[in-house]
Amino acid sequence: MAEQPAYVAIARKWRPLTLEDMAGQTHVTRTLKNALASGRIHHAFLFTGARGVGKTTAARALARALQCLEGPTASPCGVCGPCVDILAGTCPDVVEIDGASNNSVDDIRDLRDGIRYLPAVARFRVYVIDEVHMLSKGAFNALLKTLEEPPPHVKFIFATTEVNKIPETILSRVQRFDFKRIAASVVVNRLRTICDAEGMAISDAALRMVARAGEGSMRDAQSLLDQVISFGGTDANDAQVAEILGMVDRGVLYEMLTGLVKSEPDRCLDAIASVHESGYEIAQFTGELLELVRNAALVALSPGARKHLDVPEEEKDRLTGLVEGMSAEHLSRTFQTLLEVHDQVARANRPRMVLEMAVARLVAIRPAQNLGPLVERLVELERRLRGSGVTVPPPRTVPLSSTGARGREPSDDPEGER
Ligand SMILES: Nc1ncnc2c1ncn2[C@@H]1O[C@H](COP(=O)(O)OP(=O)(O)OP(=O)(O)O)[C@@H](O)[C@H]1O
Ligand SMILES: [Mg+2]
Ligand SMILES: [Zn+2]
Repeated sequence: MAEQPAYVAIARKWRPLTLEDMAGQTHVTRTLKNALASGRIHHAFLFTGARGVGKTTAARALARALQCLEGPTASPCGVCGPCVDILAGTCPDVVEIDGASNNSVDDIRDLRDGIRYLPAVARFRVYVIDEVHMLSKGAFNALLKTLEEPPPHVKFIFATTEVNKIPETILSRVQRFDFKRIAASVVVNRLRTICDAEGMAISDAALRMVARAGEGSMRDAQSLLDQVISFGGTDANDAQVAEILGMVDRGVLYEMLTGLVKSEPDRCLDAIASVHESGYEIAQFTGELLELVRNAALVALSPGARKHLDVPEEEKDRLTGLVEGMSAEHLSRTFQTLLEVHDQVARANRPRMVLEMAVARLVAIRPAQNLGPLVERLVELERRLRGSGVTVPPPRTVPLSSTGARGREPSDDPEGER
C-alpha cells in the first residue's frame, strides 16, 4: 500500500520563496528589490512588525537573493549551488540563529569569530538572527562592535516582533523595515490561490471570514484555513466556516445595520436574537458591528473614503446604497453610542438586554437628514412669497438641538416628534 504523504501545514507549504512572491509588504519588497538591483546593499537589516506577516519569510528570501550565483538579484535562479543549499538549509554561508535560545554573550562571541572567515561557497556570509530582541544586554554589546565595522563579506538580517526591546545603539546601525498587518483583501487573494491550487472549494465569503479572523496575520489566516479544512472538509460551506471560526454571519450584521439606519427596530431585535441563539458572544457581535458602522459613516462622509475600507467592492456598493441620504454625523453618533454599549456588553451579566436597550435608544433618535435641500426649498419659498407681495418677517435664528434634525419648532413638524 502506498504511504500517505505527510501532511504539511498550509503556512509552511506556502511560504513564499522570493520577495516577489510575498503578498502585501510592497513598501519593503520594493525597496529591497531596488537595493539588490543597484548593488547598494546595506550591511544590516532589521525586519519588525506583528506576528505572521512575513519577517522570517523576507529574511530567508533576502538571503537567497544575496547569495544566488546569478545575483545579487530579487529573482534568484533556484538551481545554483547556494540557491539549492539555502532551501535545504545546508548552505554554510547562511547562518540562521534563533535569538531566543542563543542569546548569551558567548553565542555572539562565537558569531564574531565566525565572521572573520570568508564565505565558503557563496558571495557573502549572511547571518539571520530571528527574535533578536531576546538577546541579552551583553550579547547586544558584543554584537554592536561587529555592527560598527563588519567585514565587507558579512550581511546581517535581524527579525523581531518587539522593536522597543532593541537598544538604540543597534537601531541606529541597521536599515529598518516595518512590516504591516496585511489587508484582508490581500489575505483573501492569497487564500484563494492556495484553495484553487489545492482543490479546496471554499467560497470567497468564507475566505473573507477566515481573513478577518486572522486579524492581519497571514500565518494566522492560513492556520485557520487548515482548521476549517480539518473540521469542515475541503468543501465546507459558509455556515460551517462561520461556526468553526466562531464568527458572526455577515448577513446578521447587515440586518442589524439596516435596522439601525432605517429605524426598523424589529430587524435589530431579530438580529440580536439570532446572535444569541447561535451562541455567539454578544461582545464579538458589537465589535464587528462597530467596524461596520464605521465603514458606513466613512462612506456617508465622502465617496473618496471608500479606499479606506478593507472590504470587497460589492460590500462598499452595498453600504453606499444603504446610507444614501444619511449624514455622516448621525452615523458617527450611532457609532459613539455603540462604542459605549460595546464596553458595557463585555462586562454585563445579561449583555443581550444591554444591546436591546441600546437599540431602543438608537432607533428613537431620528436620523439627521441632510438639511441642505430643505434650506434651499425654504429660501425658494421665501423668494416666491416676496415676489407675490406678502410681507415676510426677517429670519429668526432657531437653536439647533443636539440631534441636528430637530432645529424646528415642534409646531412646525406635521408628523410630531417620535
Ligand atoms: N507577506 C506574506 N505573503 C505570503 N505569505 C506570508 C506572508 N507573511 C506570512 N506569510 C505566511 O505565513 C507564514 C509565517 O510567516 P513568517 O514566518 O514570515 O512570519 P513572521 O513575520 O516571521 O512571524 P513571527 O513574528 O511569528 O516570527 C509563512 O510560512 C507564510 O506561509
Ligand atoms: Mg518569524
Ligand atoms: Zn541561484
